[in-house]
Amino acid sequence: DSYSLLILPGDGIGPEVMAEVVKIVDWFGANRGMSFDVSHDLVGGSAYDRHGVPLADETMARAQAVDAVLLGAVGGPKYDDLDFSVKPERGLLRLRKEMDLFANLRPAQCFDALADFSSLKREVVAGLDILIVRELTSGVYFGEPRGIHADDNGDNEGGRVGINTQRYTSGEIRRVARAAFELAMRRGNKVCSMEKANVMESGILWREEVQWVHDNEYPDVELSHMYADNGAMQLVRNPRQFDVIVTDNLFGDILSDAAAMLTGSLGMLPSASLGAPMANGRPKALYEPVHGSAPDIAGQGKANPIACILSFAMALRYSFDQGEAAAELERAVERVLADGVRTADLMGPEGGTPVSTSQMGDRIVA
Ligand code: NAI
Ligand code: MG
Repeated sequence: DSYSLLILPGDGIGPEVMAEVVKIVDWFGANRGMSFDVSHDLVGGSAYDRHGVPLADETMARAQAVDAVLLGAVGGPKYDDLDFSVKPERGLLRLRKEMDLFANLRPAQCFDALADFSSLKREVVAGLDILIVRELTSGVYFGEPRGIHADDNGDNEGGRVGINTQRYTSGEIRRVARAAFELAMRRGNKVCSMEKANVMESGILWREEVQWVHDNEYPDVELSHMYADNGAMQLVRNPRQFDVIVTDNLFGDILSDAAAMLTGSLGMLPSASLGAPMANGRPKALYEPVHGSAPDIAGQGKANPIACILSFAMALRYSFDQGEAAAELERAVERVLADGVRTADLMGPEGGTPVSTSQMGDRIVA
C-alpha cells in the first residue's frame, strides 16, 4: 500500500518535532513494508516569509489531494503584529475550512508512567482515556458579522466595537454529533454533549440536534448533556466519568486545553481533524499536535516530539487503516516513558536529566 503524506512543519518548534516524526515515517517504510509518498511545504509564518500569505494556493491544492496532512505548529512573536488576514493562524484556519474538517479529535489519555506528573492526583487520572470531539469549521471563529468597527456606542470609551458571531446550522451540529456517536461505539459507548443552552440560542439548537441524532440514529449509545462551564469543573473533579465529549469550536478549544493538563503536558497531546470521505474512501484528514509553536523553547532542542509522533499514530489509524502499526507506535512511546526517558516538560519535581527532542525521537525509533 502507498500513502501520500503532506508534511507542513510550520514555525517555532514545529520543524523540530516534525524532524522526529520523519524518522518514524522512515522506520515504518523500512520495517513494515509501507510505502509513503512524502512531500514537504510551508505553512504559517514561514509561508508568509516566502509567499506573503500564511498558506499558498498551491499548498492548499496539495493538501486537498493527499491522503493525510501532518502539521507541526504555526505562529510566533515575529508575526504578532501582522495584519489579521495574513496572521499564521489564518493558514491553519484556511486548511481546516477548505478541507471542511468538521470533526477535531482530541484524545486525553494518561500514560501510567506520567500519572504522578498530571496536574491532578494519580487516583483521579490513572487509566484516563477520554476523547474530546470538537466542531471545527463553524461557530464563533467563523460566524458573520465580525470585525472591529468605529462605533459611538455610548460608553464614552474608545469609540470602537469588536464583533464575532456564534452561528450553527442543524446540519453542522448533526454531522459532528454523528462522528462522536460513531467513535463512542468503538470505545465506551457514551457521549456527553456540552454547550451553554442556559444562555445561548445556538446552545439550545446544539442540544436539540444532538438529541435528535441520538434518538433517530444512535439510540443505543448513552447520551448526556452538560453546560460547558460545569463540564470544565467535572473534567478536573472526575474526568474518568467521560468517554466521548462532543462540543462546539470555542468550548472545545478551551476544554481540550484543560484536558491536556490531566495528562501531564501539552507536549503529549495529539489531534486529528477529519472531514468527509474522499473518492478513495479515506476521510480528508489533518493531523497535528495540540500545542503551538512554543517560542519560549524554540531552537533549543527542548521540545517534546511525542504529541506530533502520536498525531502520526492517529494518521496510521484513521487515514491509512493501519491500526496495528498505530498501536505499535503507541506502545513504543509508552515503553520509552516507562523507561524514564523524559524531555524537560515531563520532568517532575524530583528532577533528573532531560533528553533532547532528537534523543526522544531516537529512543522511540529504537
Ligand atoms: P504553546 O502551545 O506554543 O506553548 C504553551 C507552553 O507549553 C509553553 O510554555 C511551551 O514551551 C510549552 N510547550 C508547548 N508545546 C511543547 C512541547 N512540544 N514540548 C515542550 N513544551 C511545550 O502556546 P502559546 O505559548 O500560547 O502560543 C505560542 C505561539 O503558538 C503563538 O504564536 C500562538 O498563536 C501559536 N499557537 C499555534 C497553534 C497551532 O499551530 N495549532 C496552537 C496554539 C498556539
Ligand atoms: Mg487551543
